[in-house]
Amino acid sequence: MIDVEKVRAETPGCRNVIHFNNAGAALEPQPVLDAVLGHLKLEAEIGGYEAADRAEAALEGVYASLARLINGAPDEIALIENATRAWDMAFYSLKLGPGDRILTAQAEYASNVIAFLQIAAKTGAAITVVPSDESGALSVEALERLIDERVKLIAVTHVPTNGGLVNPAAAIGRVARRHGIPFLLDACQSVGQMPVDVAEIQCDMLSATGRKFLRGPRGTGFLWVRREWIERLEPPFLDLHAATWTSTEGYEIRRDARRFENWESYVAGRLGLGAAAEYAMAIGLEPIWERVKALADTLRRSLGEIPGVTLRDLGHERCGIVTFTVEGLSAKELRATLSKARINTTTSSLFSTRYDMTARALDLLLRASVHYYNTEEEIARFCDVVRERAAVR
Ligand SMILES: Cc1ncc(COP(=O)(O)O)c(C=O)c1O
Repeated sequence: MIDVEKVRAETPGCRNVIHFNNAGAALEPQPVLDAVLGHLKLEAEIGGYEAADRAEAALEGVYASLARLINGAPDEIALIENATRAWDMAFYSLKLGPGDRILTAQAEYASNVIAFLQIAAKTGAAITVVPSDESGALSVEALERLIDERVKLIAVTHVPTNGGLVNPAAAIGRVARRHGIPFLLDACQSVGQMPVDVAEIQCDMLSATGRKFLRGPRGTGFLWVRREWIERLEPPFLDLHAATWTSTEGYEIRRDARRFENWESYVAGRLGLGAAAEYAMAIGLEPIWERVKALADTLRRSLGEIPGVTLRDLGHERCGIVTFTVEGLSAKELRATLSKARINTTTSSLFSTRYDMTARALDLLLRASVHYYNTEEEIARFCDVVRERAAVR
């Protein structure tokens, strides 16, 4: 059981807002704030390089914390400024050629698909969207049927930006492993709200961000690459951190996952990211997941009782992201009304998940994403505001 009073007391933002934008950027807990501000202060007091030297052991600890969070190893972790670049460093390291196929999911994120399209245009590789099952999750049977010797990558988003869907990552991993196909998992929206275990999922590469359900600072993220894959992937960019200039004509690329990093970084943010991982693990990813699911179910149930509301979440198992539309009321207007009531939400548009939104004839959704520090009272207040606004459409 999570001590909700305690975690709320440790979350300064809970005093100001009802924060249902955890899939955007969650409220940071005090230990994260302390780690970031403490380091920024030290930089101001003694100098940035000198502060980093002093924080060396703590910075190494960040790799260990993130590795423990996802059940990987510290040398398989690269600290990268966000999930997009982390994902890019893995994807653009793969060598794809004419006729090679990338299998992806219906709810894939825009930035990933834009990268597929760019590489497809440059190399002649092809993109295949794996059909969904009746619940809207990626169909593992369809995936299995689409496998042939030309498939060189399975790249799937675990939890999409536009809804509560949880794609069956471990079942996808079993197919990928059986056929020896690399599996890149975009875990940007899942890490921090549920247990994510790379050994169980059997992915080969995983990208994640700091600021969302992990409750870390903005401008932080990480990539995990399975050890067997690290040296098979040549990063698209190299610098003097990722590689060493060993002779006038040559260089050697690092042998650990830090080959995907570059030298200059947001040191305070990295420390905050490590603090966020430790904070989540201290609470426990299982209890976090149980509470997030329960709160989201309550929210869906209450919203479902409001006339005009249509819930839009897909999947057998649903997470803390709740999306819906209200007949005759734009998501933008509703968001503005909620914002006036100091309730944070966001909207999710066609431009973020075009395959899925087009298939469902949707263009804009209201997205309310809950975390374990939210409460039933906040859900009731949220639903009151939605009900009142929906009544005057
Ligand atoms: C599924 C998914 N992948 C990747 C990203 C990008 O993450 P970042 O903004 O940290 O680069 C997002 C952001 O919303 C996302 O929802």
